[in-house]
Amino acid sequence: MESFIDETLKKYQHQTTPLLMVLRDVQAQYFHIPKQAVELIAKGLDIPRTQIVAVVEFYHFFSFEPRGRYDIFLSDSITDHMLGKKALADYLCAKLQTPLGTVRADGVVSIDNTACTGLCDQGPALLVNGYAIGQLSEQRIDRIVVLIEQNCPVTEWDSDLFEVHDNIQQGGLLLNTKLPRGAALTAAWQRGLTETLDDIKASGLRGRGGAGFTTAMKWASCRATEETERYVVCNADEGEPGTFKDRVLLNSYTHDIFEGMTICAAILGAHKGFVYLRGEYLHLFNKLNTVLEERRAAGLLGDNILGYGWKFDIEIRLGAGSYVCGESSALLESLEGKMGIPRNRPPSSIIKGYLAKPTVLNNVETFVAAAHIAWQGSEWFASCGTEKSKGTKILSICGDCERPGIYEYPFGTTLKEVLKDCGADDVLGVQVGGPSGTFVSTRESDGRLTFEELSTGGAFIIFNHSRNIFDIVQNFTHFFAEESCGFCTPCRVGTSLLKKQFDKIHSGHGSAGDIKELRDIAKLIKDTSHCGLGQSAAEPILTTLERYPNLYERQIKQQYSFDPVFDLDGSLAVAREMSGRDDGHAHLTQVEKK
Ligand SMILES: Cc1cc2nc3c(=O)[nH]c(=O)nc-3n(C[C@H](O)[C@H](O)[C@H](O)COP(=O)(O)O)c2cc1C
Ligand code: SF4
Repeated sequence: MESFIDETLKKYQHQTTPLLMVLRDVQAQYFHIPKQAVELIAKGLDIPRTQIVAVVEFYHFFSFEPRGRYDIFLSDSITDHMLGKKALADYLCAKLQTPLGTVRADGVVSIDNTACTGLCDQGPALLVNGYAIGQLSEQRIDRIVVLIEQNCPVTEWDSDLFEVHDNIQQGGLLLNTKLPRGAALTAAWQRGLTETLDDIKASGLRGRGGAGFTTAMKWASCRATEETERYVVCNADEGEPGTFKDRVLLNSYTHDIFEGMTICAAILGAHKGFVYLRGEYLHLFNKLNTVLEERRAAGLLGDNILGYGWKFDIEIRLGAGSYVCGESSALLESLEGKMGIPRNRPPSSIIKGYLAKPTVLNNVETFVAAAHIAWQGSEWFASCGTEKSKGTKILSICGDCERPGIYEYPFGTTLKEVLKDCGADDVLGVQVGGPSGTFVSTRESDGRLTFEELSTGGAFIIFNHSRNIFDIVQNFTHFFAEESCGFCTPCRVGTSLLKKQFDKIHSGHGSAGDIKELRDIAKLIKDTSHCGLGQSAAEPILTTLERYPNLYERQIKQQYSFDPVFDLDGSLAVAREMSGRDDGHAHLTQVEKK
């Protein structure tokens, strides 16, 4: 083990920031993180072993307990369930004689659930040793089982099992325009970097990751900082269930992303950039590195980009299964080799980002749009969309429709038009923006996709009338409880209370008082949580309570009398007590003791 750890640390130049990469290699080699490895890494990197232990415990894909040599994670997104996940999971578990959540006695295989794997347009899906397999069927599972029982290494499995399709159903301004390699960079330098920033401002480009912050303002503020060491980070965490458009951009518009990042770096005066790639997209890792190599060879990255004397390079870092790491400050923590706990703000990451240096962090699609604007100009981009939402939005459409996949629309397009294009019939509603977004019923189908009206980072999940709203809300509520990072009590305790309280009502054991309590907990979490995860965790419940009060009432009428599944009053009191403020771990421990 000593020589393996030694080699691994050497591969990452004995830096502490790529700790997740080191641990990923160790997990892949030993199917767990051996205690001895922790000691060796701590010594080799000169960091406390407690830091490593905390990191291992934080991320879903690390484990101190041995996992199977074939480590399977089944995607647990609502769309996987709609496509028959439960029956297929049962089939797989029975065939491999491995119940869900266990490691088989011979150590060959382990099966567990994980959050969405980003294949909602081609589910149900799973990961085997980190690699995604979609379109699961009994036939495909039979093939997987045979390969496992024959002890065939995953690297030798037929490649068709691992095929991930782009599924571009409708392109627009960005997807239909081929950006020649280096064209945007050349245009930016020829026009001037300040002028290019002005152009991005004039285009009205706003961030495509969800919050819609003005991109030029972010870049200009970072450029104006006194610190001269600056960083560019591309958020390719794409963890919101129902979102997969960045997967397609990373796969087929890779140069456009790197071009956008390089222009951003030149404008900021940054020499180093990172793509934080979600662990579930391991299948894209080698491809991204190959494109980086091509760009270095073509002089589009490196010490003297296109002969303009600018130095910039990009590194790909993988996550390890944590939704909250998509939140910008949690991502930066993770990139520094730590647990992905969202930071306190201010200061924002524009001022104190990666390694406390000024940093611009943008979504994948934002960088693609920026590259195209640098090449084609602001008017080309701003000619599309609405006054406050310029350009186009790329949607990941999945769920109950004939043609799931990627669609690019000018901002301002109505829900009705989108539903027609993708062949959605008998629609009950659409979850716009994923679990943290909004459930929109067909009564609101004249609603327009804009930042002001119906905002989405890309997720667009369609449900028809055969679906039960309570099943949907339950899946989302469990997702948030699972993904809460546990740092602040309103979210940690609250999401778990919400889950139990909702399950109680869903199972027909709720009373009218339970609905009131549900609403109270939901509001408490929304108002007092530390980061966006907690602040939006109750949205599925709050929006359905508001839109479908009758459904909740009907659900409690079916039941009989009060049956306390858990001590709600006691737990709620603890959460309420915490609602004042979140003062970090010391305070949390005190509350937990009560
Ligand atoms: C819990 C949580 C998860 C998030 N996940 C992502 C993500 O996967 N990708 C993303 O671009 N932004 C995500 N965001 C938003 C980021 O914090 C940030 O606003 C965004 O990456 C900024 O880029 P933009 O300005 O280009 O949109 C998430 C936010 C929260 C609160
Ligand atoms: S709101 Fe939830 S995810 Fe965010 S810091 Fe608090 S516990 Fe962590």
